[in-house]
Amino acid sequence: MDLDAILKEIQEEIQKYFTKGKLPNYIPMLAQADESDFAMSIITLDGEEYHIGCSNKKFSIQSISKVFTFTLALEHYSKELYKRVGHEPSGDPFNSLVQLEYESGIPRNPFINAGAIVTTDCLASIFEDNAFNEILDFMKKVSGDQNISFDKNIFISELGHGFQNFALINLMKSYHNIKNPIDDVIQIYFKQCSIMMTTKQLAHSMLFLANHGKDPLTNESILNESKAKRINSLMLTCGHYDASGDFAYKVGLPGKSGVGGGIVAVVPKKMAISVYSPKLNVYGNSLIGTKALELFTTKTGLSIF
Ligand code: DON
Repeated sequence: MDLDAILKEIQEEIQKYFTKGKLPNYIPMLAQADESDFAMSIITLDGEEYHIGCSNKKFSIQSISKVFTFTLALEHYSKELYKRVGHEPSGDPFNSLVQLEYESGIPRNPFINAGAIVTTDCLASIFEDNAFNEILDFMKKVSGDQNISFDKNIFISELGHGFQNFALINLMKSYHNIKNPIDDVIQIYFKQCSIMMTTKQLAHSMLFLANHGKDPLTNESILNESKAKRINSLMLTCGHYDASGDFAYKVGLPGKSGVGGGIVAVVPKKMAISVYSPKLNVYGNSLIGTKALELFTTKTGLSIF
């Protein structure tokens, strides 16, 4: 299969969608992204790489960070973690408060904001003041690249405007599902969202999930096979919030999006893919990124179904 040619076709076919979608403005710094940016990277388990567009340009990974913090927390807490965060799709937007009150402060899954904030709280309990550095070190390890950091301006922008997240964390604190001081936890959460990565780095960072928990390029075991299966399942059922069903229907791969415009996807036992385009659809997922992945599985037949 000529993946370079397929990436070129995809790049041509997505051009007509650049007029659609919107940059997010609830985090003001994200509204400054370049609307015309597009990048897509594929890395196979045997290390072949295919890239198109601005695949060396860094963007904020936002909710894609939720996959990594959950992986890290699962390693330390195992099944205990599921007492504080569930594994069912929410069917609600990523920052919704409604379900959380009905369900006594236990978020439906780790990939909505509330669930990711609980996950971060768990990491704060284990690593204390070093929690953010541990998250960053983990990102460097799984992407095989030391050149990863967070963007202070995006972090400050979200800290000043993340009212919904403050509401979520306060509600969960009132139900005793946040153990550490809310200001500490929310700052780690906003910092992890403002980590900057390229599609190239993100594709590498997903390879362990395409390979039963082991990085195929370094042979390092990141987590065991059973946990890798669970994370992939959660990405398939919950990775795109209330559009998770739509993403599974159109793309047919485990995936995770972020409001920074990135999406990662896993083709089990074959490859990891990352795509970037900053304008979002109404669900807060990259509009062109979703379309590009749909074209990819249609053209290659490489969906899990
Ligand atoms: O907490 C927030 O609202 C953002 N930092 C992350 C949200 C996000 O990426 C949802 N993704 N589609």
